[in-house]
Formats: sequence, C-alpha cells, structure tokens
Amino acid sequence: MNLHPETSQTGFKSYQKRIHDIRKDFPILGRQVHGNKKLVFLDSAASSQKPTSVIEAMDRFYFEEYANVHRGVYALSVRATEKYEEVRVKLGRFFGTTKEHEWIFGAGTTALINLIATGWGERHVQAGDEIVVTRLEHHANFVPWQQLCLRKKAKFTIIELTDRFEVDLEAYVSALKRGPKLVAFSHMSNVLGTVNPVAKMATMAKEAGAVVVVDGAQSVAHLPFKMGDLGPIDFFVFSAHKVLGPTGIGAMWANEAVLKQMDPYQFGGDMILKVSDDVTVFNGLPTKFEAGTPNFVGAVGLAAGLEYMQELGRDWIHDYETFLCAYALEKLTAIRGLSIKGPMDLSRRGSVISFTVDGIHPHDLATLLDLDGISVRAGHHCAQPLMNTLKVAATTRASFSFYNLPEEVDALVNSIETARKVFS
Ligand code: ALA
Repeated sequence: MNLHPETSQTGFKSYQKRIHDIRKDFPILGRQVHGNKKLVFLDSAASSQKPTSVIEAMDRFYFEEYANVHRGVYALSVRATEKYEEVRVKLGRFFGTTKEHEWIFGAGTTALINLIATGWGERHVQAGDEIVVTRLEHHANFVPWQQLCLRKKAKFTIIELTDRFEVDLEAYVSALKRGPKLVAFSHMSNVLGTVNPVAKMATMAKEAGAVVVVDGAQSVAHLPFKMGDLGPIDFFVFSAHKVLGPTGIGAMWANEAVLKQMDPYQFGGDMILKVSDDVTVFNGLPTKFEAGTPNFVGAVGLAAGLEYMQELGRDWIHDYETFLCAYALEKLTAIRGLSIKGPMDLSRRGSVISFTVDGIHPHDLATLLDLDGISVRAGHHCAQPLMNTLKVAATTRASFSFYNLPEEVDALVNSIETARKVFS
C-alpha cells in the first residue's frame, strides 16, 4: 500500500481551520437526520453538496436578472445572454482552453455522450468498424457505444482490468492495433476510484487513428488538471451537479475540427439559423448542438461551482482529499472481512472507495449506516458490466469531498463495526 505519509488525525491539523470554515459554506452539512443523528454525507460521487455561493448565484439570476437568452433585444435578455456566454469563457479559464465555441452545454454527462454517439457515431461508424471502451465504464459511457455498434453492426470491444483494478494497457494496445474508429473511457471510475492514464491512452489511440472520448464525470471535482494535460483527446464531458453546481446541466469540450464533422442530435430553438418548407440551415458552433432554450441559469450555477473550487485551489483540494482517502483506506482495511474494490496506490486513484463486507449485503449495510446518519451509496453504481466481472451484485461506496472530515471516516468505520456485530 502506498499511503499518505500522515494518515493519522495529527495530519489533519494543517487543514483543520480551513475545512471548518469551508463547511460553513455548505449549510446542509450542519443538519441532522433520523431525529438527532449528525449528517455524515459520504455520497459526493453521486452528487456533490452545494455551497451558498452557487445557490445565491442562481437565486440572484432568477430574482433580478431572468429572461430568455439569444432571443430578446431588450436589456434583460441581452444581459442574460452575456452571462450565459461568459460561462464558456470561464470554462476556458478553468480548463485552459482557448476557443469558447468548443464548449457545448447539455443536460449532463449522459446526454452529452449520447450526443457524441449519435451526432458523430451515426455519421462515421459503419458496419465492420470497431469501438473500444473499458470494463470500468459507467453505463452512460458504455451503453450508447454498445447500442451504436448494434445499430451499425460494428464491433464493440471491452478492455478488461488487471488485478489491480486498472485498465489492462496490453489488451488496450492489442485492440488499438486493429484500428478502432473511436475509444471511450473514464478519467476516473465512479466505482473503483481508479484514475486512468488519460494522456498515455489518448496518445496511443490517436496514433492508431481513433477519436478519443473522455468521461470526466468523476474527475473534475477532484483532480487538478488542464485539458492540455489529457493529451490529444477529442471530447471531454462532465456534469455540473458533481462539481458543486446544479442538476440538469453539463458541459462538453470538443475540438473544433471534430465538431465540424458532427451532425446535430436534436432540432429546434437555438440550433436553427433559417427554415423553409423544404430545408433548414443550422446555426454554427456552439449553438448547433444546443437545441431549445438552454439551461442558462444552470450554466451560471456551474460557473459559480467551478469558481468556488478555483478559490480554494484545485491542488489544495486534491492534496486534502488524498490525505482523507489515505486515512479512510487505512481505517477501512483494518476492518475484518472488508474488501476494497479499487487500487490501493494513491497516485492511481481518487477519493471514491467501494467495498464489500463478508456476511453483509451492501444494501443492508447502507441502511444500517443511514440509521447512524451516514449517507453512502450501495448497489451496482450504474456499472453492471463491471460488477459482473468483480463477481459481486453490488458494493457499498463511500465517496469523499474536500468538505468531509476525518471524524466522519471514524463514524463510518464505527458504524461498519457495529453492523458486523449485528450480522455476526
Ligand atoms: N454516476 C453517479 C454515481 O456514480 C450517479 O453515483
């Protein structure tokens, strides 16, 4: 195991004051559940909690500035349009990209991957072509490709994992030798916590002539990176709600060249320039891919979430979460019968920890934890092909954010120990 040098409570001292201040920005963290049980929220991989600044940014928009975008010539609408379009600039700042029109908004990661699978896939994938995914994908980055391959009679290849819960790069290289049209993989697994070597995988895929899609749903909240660090990728998608922002909006970065080789996926509203009885001319980038009234209030919430992270410092967030993850791994592995499903090397994982406990069904465990005020997710985590390979029906998953405390890890561990006694 390659744990953080200071995995004890004493290692927390340097973070303590700041974390306690941060927690004041998340009012929900102060609430109680089941009467008088302090909420211990360990399900940020499903959706993060929201700081006051995000909620206020959206409230202010609705209370004082609201009007539809891209339509009105009046002051409110013009300002709303500016605010919406400014979010693309802010995304550029956060991720180090330069062309605003390479950012497309959609309902979230799932909707945006479906946009790629349809808008790019329908045009470019033919019978006999190959698409490559990995075993650790969320359904959202698995099923759209599987279904595209079924529709097109293309080959759908799944790269298996090593016994260290990492993508088997030898198998990946072998698949690339066949010249697949597209490869799609996660930046960070929502089940195992595994962080894929994206730049390396993308470089290899590009040399093989494949288009590269990266699912960043889990990574943006935790890993400090710029788009340029990810190598020659073509698409990167993520959801706002896992990055302190609201539900119902996500963003996709894609390089301009590949966007120009894509067809729109949905029709109507902003994506249209001109319609006659027989022909429609579509708008240019980015609106060509944003049919209907966009979720512009959500976009402002998304920007506020990213700004909150920037103010904290993405390196600092990663540093603290690595400390917390090390502490949790150390404590959890000491529990008899508990098995971690994910890498133990902190340089290859994020702060999502899935586990099973002998003799306790993950759902029963999650229910008992909840009675102690501890919120975790149990189930297949929308990754059934992975669960089948792990030979488990489900796992219990604790996922940590920078607003969690070591004492919340202790509460989790104590509650699991109590559950073990109940089931022994
Ligand atoms: N994809 C989210 C999760 O892993 C919902 O929980």
